[in-house]
Amino acid sequence: MSAAKDIFKKYQAQTFPFPSCLEIASAKGSYIYDVNGKAYLDFIAGVSACSLGHSNPIIIETVKEQLDKYTHVMVYGEYIQSPQYKLAKLLADNLPENLCTTYFTNSGAEAIEGAMKLAKRATGRSEIISCKNSYHGSTQGALSIMGNEEHKARYRPLLPNCNQIIFNNENSLDSITKKTAAVVIEPIQGGTGFITPSNNFLQKVREKCTETGTLLIFDEIQTCYGRLGTLFGFETYEIIPDILCVAKGMGGGMPIGAFITSWKLMNLLTYAPKLGHITTFGGHPINCAASLACLGHLLATNIMKEVEEKEQLFRTHLKHSKIKEIRGKGLMLAVEFQDEELIKKVVQQSLEKGLILFYFLFTKTAIRITPPLTISNIEIIEGCEIIKGILEA
Ligand SMILES: Cc1ncc(COP(=O)(O)O)c(C=O)c1O
Repeated sequence: MSAAKDIFKKYQAQTFPFPSCLEIASAKGSYIYDVNGKAYLDFIAGVSACSLGHSNPIIIETVKEQLDKYTHVMVYGEYIQSPQYKLAKLLADNLPENLCTTYFTNSGAEAIEGAMKLAKRATGRSEIISCKNSYHGSTQGALSIMGNEEHKARYRPLLPNCNQIIFNNENSLDSITKKTAAVVIEPIQGGTGFITPSNNFLQKVREKCTETGTLLIFDEIQTCYGRLGTLFGFETYEIIPDILCVAKGMGGGMPIGAFITSWKLMNLLTYAPKLGHITTFGGHPINCAASLACLGHLLATNIMKEVEEKEQLFRTHLKHSKIKEIRGKGLMLAVEFQDEELIKKVVQQSLEKGLILFYFLFTKTAIRITPPLTISNIEIIEGCEIIKGILEA
């Protein structure tokens, strides 16, 4: 074992028994480099986070500029900081009218926590409905609405009044009633291998929420900032949520999240009691500056427009008899093999051959492909050839 691996395993908290232990030296564009100088083509992008690729000069320059001005100056919401208000304004400019006020958080899970609290506050109801097989984060509120009992059981009791519907099952929508504060839903179910909505399911959820006065919270923590080819996933499915949660890709590699809603709803967090949601580092100026640069770049370039073509390239070059199905949308794809052993082989051997792939949280028969949105066509084909080469061997 290398000295670094030894220290990593001994002193740094471990959450998975078999981490890949890639020892990182640097990362640039679609590549990560290890300490031995080996290059790895990155089909994962830090799990949908590095939307503009690694060390994108636009992000780096912006971060450096902000570092020279100021870093943390005060807890959230007290001082006027230009990276924060400019980002909030640019988000509002590119969102429907009812999604015009942004609360910045440190992570996706914290955005979900804030949104759940706000829904309870706004409706005076306590029931939160989510979907079976959903993932919304690992903090206790987010865990309470996670749709996988194996991950929850040892942490109970969790929040009361959290119930579940089945994604893509219209019959289960009757569970949404006038007692429901909010439905929290991902436009594409991530943890279970990128299950896309069918039969206008999301529209039907929207209708049921409107009918019952329930707030619709969209968890766009993985789909935001262009991953599906539209800035936000709800545009792809032509519905508008009441509260939008974002994170991951919005930072262009820096840690930031947000929940976004109307001014009227968000204002409930200001009074009785005041300070309805508090964070020290949420909306850190460096991360907001990075997110602002990332959003500006996505809006000014063709990166989002090219997502669909890149999706098709993956679909074309990943045709193989051992691949049962490619699910998902945009650059959020799940390659289904229906053979757990084969998945392990593909992920492990890909790494040896210089390609980074990764697993899903719940499903064991698919691998995830979520590269930087800036990945080139040649890089896509190169990576697909590595996967097919392993399947042939
Ligand atoms: C759909 C979804 N929601 C919430 C989260 C939690 O985000 P974070 O890890 O930033 O807390 C994730 C993270 O994977 C996610 O994919």
